Amino acid sequence: MKIDIIGAGSLGLLLAGRLTQSGNDVRLWCRGGEQCRKLKDEGLTVSYEDGRDPTSISGDRFMSAPIEGFADAYLREPSDWIIVTVKQDILHNVLPEFLSPLKDLREQQVHIICFQNGIGHMEMLSNLLPKANLYAAVTTEAAKRKSLTEVIHAGAGEVWIGEWSLKNGQTHNIHTDLQVNYLIEVLIMAGFSAFLSNEVDTMIYRKLLINAVINPLTAIWRIPNGELLASEERLQLMKELFREATMVYDACGVTYDHDAWDNILKVCRTTAGNTSSMLADVLASRSTEIRWINGSLVEMAERTGTLVPLHRLICQLVEGI
Ligand code: PAF
Repeated sequence: MKIDIIGAGSLGLLLAGRLTQSGNDVRLWCRGGEQCRKLKDEGLTVSYEDGRDPTSISGDRFMSAPIEGFADAYLREPSDWIIVTVKQDILHNVLPEFLSPLKDLREQQVHIICFQNGIGHMEMLSNLLPKANLYAAVTTEAAKRKSLTEVIHAGAGEVWIGEWSLKNGQTHNIHTDLQVNYLIEVLIMAGFSAFLSNEVDTMIYRKLLINAVINPLTAIWRIPNGELLASEERLQLMKELFREATMVYDACGVTYDHDAWDNILKVCRTTAGNTSSMLADVLASRSTEIRWINGSLVEMAERTGTLVPLHRLICQLVEGI
């Protein structure tokens, strides 16, 4: 399968490494020229925390190039799937320029799958590329980028893929979609536990709730996820963020699991030693996804007249950092 991966962060590198290794034709679009050069010279390494031997993929087995060249390359030689793994801020502020040349392509030609945390990006992309087939993915894979050319696979998770249902207000049964079924097969061959879902929106909102409670507090306090459970004061703040978020969901008609709070505690326990993605951004002086996580909840609250003072404050604190 021919696959374009836009974004060479931790998830982009993990996908590129494994998909190349299992025989696919991968083009990896990076934000910086230095990363492209290094990937060409040094290749890409996927290493594992459980002591397994690392996998090294030589730089001539896949293409790595600066994102600026993406549309030209795609128009010359389209791929079967475009996988977008850049963070939300790049997706909103940088990518439109590089994706807009595809806007007139016929529907069957462009298949895009987005892996972002938070919400807001699918609407943006469906406005930008009204004829594209847009899919969303929710993943619990844990990956950390060690260098520009090395990613550590810190924990195996799952990848759930579904069609974004806001497209023209219609949905179709994704299980009958050949192109996406083929992608699932390819991901499984590459070693991922990948599944189709007709309820990917529900999964996105479930993950949003987890991220909105865990990520900003770990970023502000600079602690791994498990330490959120270490004191009653921390738990109280988490609980208040959770309470406000569920009020917003109730007001917007978004459903959530009856054990959603317990599930957040479980995520803290199972990822106890992990640095959340937002803390990783703060530590690397990158902009965070706060606007599309807690900020999205604030926007939903504004639309429905719900009060979310703690989410507002948290957004300001993280933006301040
Ligand atoms: O964003 C993240 O870091 C992760 O989604 C999660 C679940 C909070 C674990 O670190």
